[in-house]
Amino acid sequence: MKKILLQLDVDTQPCPFDAIVAVDAGTEVLLRHAGVTPETVVPLTHGAMFTRGGGDLASTAIFLGGSDVAQVETVSQTVQQTFFGPVRVSVMVDPAGANTTAAAAVIAGARHLPINEPAAARSLKTVILGATGPVGQRAARLLAGKGVAVTLVSRSEARAAACAATIQTRHPDATLTATTTAELETALADADLILAAGAAGVELLSGEHRSKAHACRVFIDLNAVPPAGIAGISPTDKATASGQAICYGALGVGGTKMKIHRAAIASLFTANDRWLDAEELLTIGEALEPSA
Ligand SMILES: NC(=O)c1ccc[n+]([C@@H]2O[C@H](COP(=O)([O-])OP(=O)(O)OC[C@H]3O[C@@H](n4cnc5c(N)ncnc54)[C@H](OP(=O)(O)O)[C@@H]3O)[C@@H](O)[C@H]2O)c1
Repeated sequence: MKKILLQLDVDTQPCPFDAIVAVDAGTEVLLRHAGVTPETVVPLTHGAMFTRGGGDLASTAIFLGGSDVAQVETVSQTVQQTFFGPVRVSVMVDPAGANTTAAAAVIAGARHLPINEPAAARSLKTVILGATGPVGQRAARLLAGKGVAVTLVSRSEARAAACAATIQTRHPDATLTATTTAELETALADADLILAAGAAGVELLSGEHRSKAHACRVFIDLNAVPPAGIAGISPTDKATASGQAICYGALGVGGTKMKIHRAAIASLFTANDRWLDAEELLTIGEALEPSA
């Protein structure tokens, strides 16, 4: 039975990156659909559900992607509602690569900080710059889920507060703070981890600001396009020591992201009921690269 993946993308063109990873991860037949909406995803999902039966359903899977995270979330809810009983196929959700990238960033941080030790995690403080973007929001959600206190930074307090409120709904006990780039200094002073998830080619933390992050033990910059998101970080940094801190750049995190993406696609074909969203992708990554 051939492994068939339906790549369902909300954008006008299905993402070639997601297609190539799908093939590299063992997909034998890739069916690519663009411009997918909550309406059109229902017959597409039926096509995946009803063609093969029983154990053969595990050989069909769905990948949901595209650059608009909210749209992908809406489509993913419709896919979930379309399944019933055992008549379902496994699904991976990774809009704009945000879930796999955020998971890889959390794994990098956990190599140096007790993020995976529930009691110790609660005393950790994280600052996420560019926190309103797809990657930043997912990193904030994953860290909040681990019990880490998260400050979400945006140019707009309202946007940061809206993202924090969404995460708070999912994790009511989480310690979440919303702030603006103009009021960053207070949060920097006692941050253990600073993660830059801003737009490509934008410096979010200058050298002067960075020097105020006295307690910071890990800096992670996900931007690969010059200038760096955090002054002084190179895209190739991977657990690179800089003073008292450890630094990661986009390529230093990207290897883990690619491993998670490939392993997740492969795991879709091991059962017909897997649902791989940010948290499940982080669990896959943690198994691939244990923190201790
Ligand atoms: N290493 C990897 O494998 C990998 C994979 C995917 C993505 N990435 C990188 O991860 C980063 C985050 O991706 P994303 O898609 O989440 O980013 P994004 O949506 O393009 O931007 C994230 C946030 O950056 C802020 N921003 C945008 N333009 C700005 C400007 N001129 N000045 C200051 N802030 C600005 C915005 O927040 P506010 O408007 O609220 O301030 C925005 O929500 C990007 O650098 C991307 O290239 C890396």
